[in-house]
Amino acid sequence: MSRSGSSHDLRRLDLATAHLDAPFAIVDMTAFRANAATMTRRAGGKPIRLASKSVRCRYLIEQVLAMDGFRGILAYTLPEALWLAARDTSDDIVVAYPTTDRAALARLAGDATAATSIAVMVDCAEHLELIEKARASVSDPHQVRVAIDIDAGYEALGGRFRAGARRSPVRSPADAVALANAILSRPGLRLVGLMAYESQIAGVGDDPPGRPLYARAVRTMQRRSAAELARRRSAIVEAVRKLTSLEFVNGGGTGSLEGTSAEPAVTEIGAGSGLYHPTLFDAYRGFTGQPAAMFALPVVRRPGPGVVTALGGGYLASGPGSPSRVPAPYLPAGLRLDKEEGAGEVQTPLIGPAADTLRIGDRVWMRHAKAGELCERFSDLHLVEGEAVAATVPTYRGEGQTFL
Ligand SMILES: Cc1ncc(COP(=O)(O)O)c(C=O)c1O
Repeated sequence: MSRSGSSHDLRRLDLATAHLDAPFAIVDMTAFRANAATMTRRAGGKPIRLASKSVRCRYLIEQVLAMDGFRGILAYTLPEALWLAARDTSDDIVVAYPTTDRAALARLAGDATAATSIAVMVDCAEHLELIEKARASVSDPHQVRVAIDIDAGYEALGGRFRAGARRSPVRSPADAVALANAILSRPGLRLVGLMAYESQIAGVGDDPPGRPLYARAVRTMQRRSAAELARRRSAIVEAVRKLTSLEFVNGGGTGSLEGTSAEPAVTEIGAGSGLYHPTLFDAYRGFTGQPAAMFALPVVRRPGPGVVTALGGGYLASGPGSPSRVPAPYLPAGLRLDKEEGAGEVQTPLIGPAADTLRIGDRVWMRHAKAGELCERFSDLHLVEGEAVAATVPTYRGEGQTFL
């Protein structure tokens, strides 16, 4: 069974939200701030660029940017970055994933504030061409800030074993130098940074529950990958810095804050999930976070002893479609999902001794497997301070923005 909360938290959260009708989502702000402080400490003095996909709430993003230890936004789409820049959320935004959105690129090139605030990610000549075409489509285009994404995946056995996200084809110092030269030869583009995200370390828990052999394999892979990447990342940064000065070298994520920040070549970490601390981040030995984002479902039926049925709940996380992506009952302690039905489209049965303590209209508290994706299900987040809702703020969705 997954991690459960305390009866004290159950009483506190029920009390704070007694006036609300479920389903709804909350952020426990004490946990959220404690998680932010833990992340900052783990980053060892290097700034954290906030991965906005993992928060998806402008109010909370602005709160985090005002905290010590966080600097700038790692956005997930260019329309999102343009939207954030236009609202003055930040003037230091890096879009972490390449874009082929011609209209958004034209808006970027045509707007002085956007062009100075936003950098877009590239990893091939086609990306550069798209930017050049967008610049050509506006009058008086601005220089476009770009960063190169480096493949930080781990390869062994002559490439027959691979771990890590399949993203950039730029892997070696020579690859990076070639693309950097292609950027530098275009006066409309300005190379400002490098990014190399080691998903196989930052996003893969090294302490998966009930899987000791797999855990051992993960730890071995991560140890070897970290050593290989530290050497390669530093060689790439050194080679590109010989061509031009760089404003940032971004790496890592919530699961690798201390390791990545210890690399001299890295100037900042991109991270965000640790703030909400969803269930996937329970599976790490190196740190413990406090569940901060949760959603409440109403108990609407009692099919029989030992089971209640709640309304909604099937908020699955993206990824490989494994059981780890399903939301987990959190409070009251002692509930589990039904193996046949899981978390349902409109109804979610919850099984276990705690079910018999729940009445129609009570609520169960659930945790999402990932961080910001929860916000695609709710228009608002209720921010809980102690035993009260201190504020209710819109998610991106609540502001009418669904970027992905
Ligand atoms: C480029 C990049 N950097 C960093 C992260 C880490 O983000 P988080 O700490 O929110 O999981 C991710 C997550 O997918 C990413 O894609």
